[in-house]
Amino acid sequence: MRVSARAERIEPFYVMEVAKAAAQLAREVARSDQPMIFLNIGEPDFTAPPLVQEAAERAIRKGVTQYTQATGLEALRERISGWYAQRFGVDVPARRIVVTAGASAALQLACLALVDAGDEILMPDPSYPCNRHFVSAADGRAVMVPTTAAERFQLSAEKVAANWGDRTRGVLLASPSNPTGTSIHPDELRRIHEIVAARGGITLIDEIYLGLSYDPTFGRTGLALDDQVISINSFSKYFNMTGWRLGWMVVPEALVPVIERLAQNLFICPSAVAQYAALACFEPESLAEYERRRSEFRARRDAFIPQLQALGLAVPVTPDGAFYAWADCSQAARRLGVEGSWDFAFELMRRAHVAVTPGRDFGSADTHRFVRFSTANSMAHLQEALARLRAVLA
Ligand SMILES: Cc1ncc(COP(=O)(O)O)c(C=O)c1O
Repeated sequence: MRVSARAERIEPFYVMEVAKAAAQLAREVARSDQPMIFLNIGEPDFTAPPLVQEAAERAIRKGVTQYTQATGLEALRERISGWYAQRFGVDVPARRIVVTAGASAALQLACLALVDAGDEILMPDPSYPCNRHFVSAADGRAVMVPTTAAERFQLSAEKVAANWGDRTRGVLLASPSNPTGTSIHPDELRRIHEIVAARGGITLIDEIYLGLSYDPTFGRTGLALDDQVISINSFSKYFNMTGWRLGWMVVPEALVPVIERLAQNLFICPSAVAQYAALACFEPESLAEYERRRSEFRARRDAFIPQLQALGLAVPVTPDGAFYAWADCSQAARRLGVEGSWDFAFELMRRAHVAVTPGRDFGSADTHRFVRFSTANSMAHLQEALARLRAVLA
């Protein structure tokens, strides 16, 4: 069967190979004294809090399970708007919010609405791999711009200007980023947006980890800049609802009917049950629980990263958000008798039964030196993983 050139362009998720090998080995060592510890997983180890679970049950029992508006329940858009006001002090009217099937659908809608065949979108290298694939699925081209630790592994205004070409349509940033957990400084973001806007381009920011921010300097939404910035967000990370498939996007008002038309045709609407459940995310009791969990994520970061660094796995920029540590494993790999982060990840899995993600999926600039540790795991597992690393690297 002939497969479309578009589908052929989407690269495989190499991470899945590591995940498959880890799952296989996990079965073999499940009964040993060292069962596998999964630090390769990019999702919270928490599930939706009680009020959210109860709201989902109620929606199912009451049978409010029909299609909703393509842009999402009005009440949910209002609550998201209220969250921006209360948590970030930013006025984001509900009419600019479109609820989607996760950030993934929002990114897809944004790319389909704005990218034409051959258009180029600048993004930092390293980046979350699917983001370049959303551009490519819309027949655009993601231009990966290598970044440095000094730039917090983010694009700078200078690099955006230097890499802007005839086909450039805009930038796709992620702040805080996956895999680094680092954000763009708000002043730099303003400068980037000015450059993009002056060229008539689009500033698209994936803010899916914004809720999980630990530093007030960085934990601000790009939506504060002006009403032309497009922000992508989700119930997956801060709200601990990965498998519910619910997210949202905030777009300029003029773009709402365009996104609505695409969403109606491509998805009809996001999951009704997930939307009714998500209304309960914004109850004071749920928000208090989310804040408690955010403190827990922060405590894990603070405990894990210094110990990791002491083992020679340098984390060049302390993450200000999310639950990742982007660590240079060159030295540690040599100690295990291998070169590069791909072999290091497999060696670590075999010898310490600790699964991590090699840098390869996230780009090509220097990513062979880096691995991503996920700290979305219990403190006990994180400490045990460190003890095993210490033993194999000694
Ligand atoms: C940076 C980034 N953007 C988007 C997504 C997709 O998230 P969702 O579950 O909301 O589709 C992820 C998931 O890991 C991510 O890390």
